[in-house]
Amino acid sequence: MNSHDKPVVLITGCSHGGIGHALARAFAANNCAVVATSRSRLSMAEMEKDERLLLEELDVQSDESVREVIEHVVEKFGRIDVLVNNAGVHCVGPLSEIPLSQIQNTFDTNVFGSLRMVQAVVPHMATRKKGKIVNIGSVAALASGPWSGAYTSSKAALHALTDTLRMELSHFGIDVINVVPGAIKSNIGKAAIIGYNRMPEWKLFKPFEAAIRERAYFSQTSKSTPTDEFARNTVAAVLKKNPPAWFSYGQYSTAMAIMYHLPLSIRDFVLKKTMKC
Ligand SMILES: NC(=O)c1ccc[n+]([C@@H]2O[C@H](COP(=O)([O-])OP(=O)(O)OC[C@H]3O[C@@H](n4cnc5c(N)ncnc54)[C@H](OP(=O)(O)O)[C@@H]3O)[C@@H](O)[C@H]2O)c1
Repeated sequence: MNSHDKPVVLITGCSHGGIGHALARAFAANNCAVVATSRSRLSMAEMEKDERLLLEELDVQSDESVREVIEHVVEKFGRIDVLVNNAGVHCVGPLSEIPLSQIQNTFDTNVFGSLRMVQAVVPHMATRKKGKIVNIGSVAALASGPWSGAYTSSKAALHALTDTLRMELSHFGIDVINVVPGAIKSNIGKAAIIGYNRMPEWKLFKPFEAAIRERAYFSQTSKSTPTDEFARNTVAAVLKKNPPAWFSYGQYSTAMAIMYHLPLSIRDFVLKKTMKC
């Protein structure tokens, strides 16, 4: 891969079928040198032959894994221009019964995983007084509803971190962008159900079992925004000379922006009805 003048983009969570995978391809199509990472190379096997991409294994929960990959990338390319914190996990279940370990795992990936990446990459960007950090949030955080409290609260925390980082890092020439997807086709529902199947039987919430399972797949319907379309539009926004601080795209992005401003009584009514709570 010749990266001489190309922006070097590092993306987490690039398994086949997900948003990270589509972003990797879209950045590469826009003349970027892309480092696509995921927990297992096998999940990126389909990109193995694409010379525009460097594939690396990276677990955002591991200090060592993050340090090794960042060192390798900086050694190879001399810099990281864009970091995309895309790796994330969904988590469904009633907040008063979900094992805390599952909520912790959600925060360890979505919040601390992203911050771990930021802390590893910022020193390199700050030295050059240049860089972009993209955090992948969620419209779900705009109106937290039943059965997804662990996930939405982690994304709300990420939104808050993103706002603070944007101001703090402006002194070092680093743009921080909150990309806020609506419902985008990916593996997120399937992955959430795998996690859900490991949870104990609910005590108080057994009657809501079907509704909780449905919540895992809420973003995955025939109307979900195609992954490539989302990736194309996101990459165009991120690569702008002056990228927006907030970029939301996809099914429900407008509806959720409206929900955010509704009186709580109306919002609760709509969310309870929609989520069969
Ligand atoms: N799809 C939507 O409708 C939607 C809406 C709003 C926000 N988002 C956000 O978009 C991002 C991408 O999700 P997606 O929809 O593309 O779901 P996905 O298909 O399940 O992809 C999630 C990716 O994150 C990776 N990941 C999980 N834990 C990790 C860890 N500890 N270290 C490194 N990678 C890890 C997964 O790897 P494995 O394959 O190894 O599990 C996978 O590559 C997430 O932050 C998600 O919250 C998605």
